[in-house]
Amino acid sequence: MNVEVLSIPCEHVKKDSYDLVIVIDTLRAGTTIAKALSNGASAVYPAGSVEEAVNLKKKIPFSLLAGERKSFKIDGFDLGNSPLEFNEKVVKGKNMILTTSNGTQAVNKFKAYGPLVSMALSNVKSVAEFSKSCENVLVVCSGSHSEVALEDLYTAGKYISYLDLPALNDNGIVAKSISSEKEIKILKMSHHGRYLSQHGMEMDLYEAIKETKVVPNLKKDPFGIDFFGI
Ligand code: MLT
Repeated sequence: MNVEVLSIPCEHVKKDSYDLVIVIDTLRAGTTIAKALSNGASAVYPAGSVEEAVNLKKKIPFSLLAGERKSFKIDGFDLGNSPLEFNEKVVKGKNMILTTSNGTQAVNKFKAYGPLVSMALSNVKSVAEFSKSCENVLVVCSGSHSEVALEDLYTAGKYISYLDLPALNDNGIVAKSISSEKEIKILKMSHHGRYLSQHGMEMDLYEAIKETKVVPNLKKDPFGIDFFGI
């Protein structure tokens, strides 16, 4: 099994296609997507921009609009991007449309490279299990505005260590070397974790370490629109 890790989405990709592309956004898009699906959402449609999300809402009636900019709920949207908002009562049976600053953009950028799944710390075990039969895997850390996000690299390291793989590129080696640290310690230490805590969203860090046994797969709906489902 070959695993190539990108520490940020603008790094060079070695191949044109992979058996599996894993996009990581631990704080918080990946955690939120896993949470929504494990709480019974029918679908999570990733949108790159606010405009794209609003247009999707017109095509997908009865859907809920969710997303953030600078981690705060977008004006006029039903929900922000806190996994805590995506509880069963709110999302069960619903189609969600989600736009975030980095995570959903990375999904849109890398979906052309192969079948894609979303990963965060909460579902790293499930995704690792799911990917075992794949030969070539691309792991993309969404990062934060073209900078490395510690929590994403750490999640990539957890993934590599669950599979007990020799890390193949230097990003993978760095990721694996920090993977034995305590989850909450890394989240609290990370730049985005500190930002969320400073803005009253510290509980999201604790939510990010609760296991959710789902593998959000990017699929196409009958109109050819991409969505995450399980
Ligand atoms: C992102 O995509 O950058 C995030 O999920 C940011 C956040 O919600 O805090």
